[in-house]
Amino acid sequence: MRSLLIFLGASALTACSVQEQMPDPSRQDVEHARLAAAELQHELQARLMEAMQSEGVEAAIGVCADEAQLISARVSEATNMDVGRTSFSLRNPDNAPDIWERQQMAAFRAAMSQGETPQSMEYSEVVETENGMMFRWMKPIPMGDLCQTCHGTNVAPEVLDLIHELYPEDHATGYEPGQLRGAFTVSRPVINPG
Ligand code: HEC
Repeated sequence: MRSLLIFLGASALTACSVQEQMPDPSRQDVEHARLAAAELQHELQARLMEAMQSEGVEAAIGVCADEAQLISARVSEATNMDVGRTSFSLRNPDNAPDIWERQQMAAFRAAMSQGETPQSMEYSEVVETENGMMFRWMKPIPMGDLCQTCHGTNVAPEVLDLIHELYPEDHATGYEPGQLRGAFTVSRPVINPG
């Protein structure tokens, strides 16, 4: 609960009077969001490991490039929530964050710089959008050791070449383990507020 308090503080900077009247996120939505993000993480990681072990790094890049979006779409459909990944420094521009997502990632990054562990953080809120009330949830994705092959500070030249071929505007290298690589982001319309 400690991290939640930190984020309430951080989001108060952006809160306006309309947002203050929003209902709290339902426990059920928060639990569904956690499960949905865990499912996405599990599926992506399983495919990545399988491809890296059986076919090597270059094949694994192809797997990520071809399948990451499909896996996100499948998990979104199965969980009835919009589930994806985003970052400040993108590989795939389709994963670009909106303003709300940028604010939460900035809060995650600030809390991590104060020593908070990314595993202990998440943030959820009900916000008013042009499409009505939305439940939104985010959780940090920290850089791990395995990720260095494709996002680290010392990516092999042949790996970089392939990444640049697939993603000419890649900004997603140069990360150290433990840094904030990005975040899971989940949303769904609030059907019955309150
Ligand atoms: C084999 C190379 C490879 C490895 C290893 C890898 N990634 Fe990626 N990563 C990619 C590719 C390719 C994409 C773009 C996927 C897409 O098109 O959505 C990507 C996208 C992402 C994104 C979405 C944001 C963006 O930049 O588009 C995040 C977050 C991410 N990776 C985190 C990680 C983490 C955390 C690890 C380690 C657990 C990891 N990646 C390991 C290749 C890799």
